[in-house]
Amino acid sequence: MTDNQANPSPSTEGAQRHIGRPLDRVDGIPKVTGRASYAYEHSEMANIAHGYIQGAAIAKGRIIATDTTEAERAPDVLYVMTHRNAPAQPEFGPPVTPTVPEVFTRARPMLSSDRVRFYDEPVALVVAETFEAARAAASLIDVRYEAETGRYDLEAHLAEAYAPQRTNAGFATDSNIGDFESAFATAAVRLDASYTTPYQHHNPMEPHATIAVWSGDDLTVYTGAQTLANFRAGMANTLQIAPERVRIVSPFTGGGFGSKLIVHADTVLAALAARVVQRPVKIAMTRQQMFANAGHRAKMRHNIRLGADRNGKLAALGHDVISATSGFEEFCEQSAVFARSLYAAENRLTRHRLVAMDTNRGEWMRSPGEAPGMFAFECAMDEMAEELGLDPIEFRVRNEPELDPENNVPFSTRNLVACMREGARRFGWERRNAVPRTMRDGRFLVGYGMAAAIRPNYLGASSARVRLGGNGHLTVQLDMTDIGTGTYTILTQIAADATGLPPSAVRVELGDSNFPRTAGSGGSWGAASAGSAVHNACLALRERIVAEARRRDPSLENLVAADVVFTNGELRLGERTERLGQLVGRLWPSGIEAEGGVERAGEAFRNFSQHSYGAHFAEIGVDTDTGEIRMRRMLTTIGAGRILNPKTARSQIIGGMVWGIGAALMEETVLDSRHGHFVNHDLAEYHVPVHADVPPLEVVFLEEHDEKANVLGSKGLGELSVCGTSAAVANAVYNATGVRVREFPITLDKLL
Ligand code: MOS
Repeated sequence: MTDNQANPSPSTEGAQRHIGRPLDRVDGIPKVTGRASYAYEHSEMANIAHGYIQGAAIAKGRIIATDTTEAERAPDVLYVMTHRNAPAQPEFGPPVTPTVPEVFTRARPMLSSDRVRFYDEPVALVVAETFEAARAAASLIDVRYEAETGRYDLEAHLAEAYAPQRTNAGFATDSNIGDFESAFATAAVRLDASYTTPYQHHNPMEPHATIAVWSGDDLTVYTGAQTLANFRAGMANTLQIAPERVRIVSPFTGGGFGSKLIVHADTVLAALAARVVQRPVKIAMTRQQMFANAGHRAKMRHNIRLGADRNGKLAALGHDVISATSGFEEFCEQSAVFARSLYAAENRLTRHRLVAMDTNRGEWMRSPGEAPGMFAFECAMDEMAEELGLDPIEFRVRNEPELDPENNVPFSTRNLVACMREGARRFGWERRNAVPRTMRDGRFLVGYGMAAAIRPNYLGASSARVRLGGNGHLTVQLDMTDIGTGTYTILTQIAADATGLPPSAVRVELGDSNFPRTAGSGGSWGAASAGSAVHNACLALRERIVAEARRRDPSLENLVAADVVFTNGELRLGERTERLGQLVGRLWPSGIEAEGGVERAGEAFRNFSQHSYGAHFAEIGVDTDTGEIRMRRMLTTIGAGRILNPKTARSQIIGGMVWGIGAALMEETVLDSRHGHFVNHDLAEYHVPVHADVPPLEVVFLEEHDEKANVLGSKGLGELSVCGTSAAVANAVYNATGVRVREFPITLDKLL
């Protein structure tokens, strides 16, 4: 670790180390004993009223009449809000969003016009004494519509695809290097294949829910959020109040997966209604409402073109994506961006195009970009390897770049080849027969498949406050969230190591916008960003303790910082040792605090190509009578810098492997192309893997330390586990059956 090399500073030499150990979740016991309050469960305020959202019964058109008389007369009803009486809000804003931050923070008015823009868009809110009363009254509202013909079928409108200015992750929409078209046209071996990835919905266990409480002009919002700063700004912009008047509280979030990066209808409507009824208002979306109102991954068509010489060296690499989006707010998932850094090829073309539909906008969904993009691309690599008569790993190794192939900068660390080779060795890849339909187990055809994984590494501006009390306990505060990833735990480990305290003496407090601001949980940057902030805040505290101790205690006057060691709860001051708590109690009876932080990714990110890498291996069986696909085992190797906690890291990865299985074999939301409605909008009809669908999963970390990434040497890993994963499964299905399905998911009807 680089503990401030420039100025000798107090160290933690000899202290027990906690980073890298499988510490149990520090929030585990409160969670399993029900003491952790999720958004809907906060009960510290009295007199809570309940809201129920009524959604539109058409996908496009205008509301011509709304009769709320019956609903208003229903028992226990306090208030019915429609576009006719909703509090004034600013315009939603322009349909094209040229800058990235705006997408996170723009005003998101609700019930603000008679227009219906997507199916189940809120058209009314009922507030009542109980949830049941609100829901019953909502069914009494009579809304008349003038419906218009909408656009709901991506395939029918491909010709209308247009080029947005940028992807939502801020990347350029196109990259064009060398002369792709002629290199492709003249390549000895070529593949030109199109794949479709379907609409998908993230379904965190905790549905979107909010309790809004006003106190004068100050608003407190209890909600499930990934990034509090986005919620604060989004609410301030929607309500047209100063951000300082908005406090967001989200100590526990029951999963997000991208769907809780920005405010949605529950949060905005709860705040509007609470102000009118002068009581706290709580609103939760039903699971079905979430399919329309909490974001989704849009349907896409990927055209992959690869051209290589007979030795398997790629000369042309092309990935064109056409994605559905909404007509009122553009969202362009960065689905071809990974292809700019993954394999060498002199001539390259990646492009993103959009088709505007009359649906809600897509949003970020776990591994935005890579999940659908690499599904298609890593299948194409498998197809190309077969064309070339090469092993899929060997083909990839032959196209391993020395420098980032589009930025021409060195990689910070890159152990993709090691991930593939070590994964192959542990998986027993040599037992694979490359000829389809040759491996069998009883009536099952058996197949092996693999795919590479890559995901960009980020660092977001973050800060933290640490306070050491007279009892020797350290309190760490930052507006970071723990969305189930293990943030409380790794921050405890980081703070312990940076102060020489045991984890039991560290208390991490998250999820309150009154705490120092962080980049939140998203993009797999959370651990690195919040972790670096905590680390630096602890370093600042150490320095401050030494500097002030010298002033306050004459016997320490000549103390040199380099002679101070924070170790195992003690402070070694030259010759002398004192318990840290005792020293603080003696010199700072009310405790001593410090802040520290980290800037947004800078030089090290411009001068080096920073990514995490991995390789996925899957073995599947296909029933020769029914076409049923059963997973048999999976193995993933991960090269993502220093692993802060192998237990929580492994949980992240196996979660992603399960997503990969789901995306490959089951997950698809079906949009009714006549009415614009997601038909299978619940967890009975939207299939995800259940326990019986998941085989033994093995995760192997190839430890490294990426000093370019951040002070901890760690890199993002959560979403890496969903990059290429589905392709490994799909490639195994091909190896088993000889059937190449390019329309995902691979349901059994497509094999027969
Ligand atoms: Mo993630 S989709 O950036 O929360």
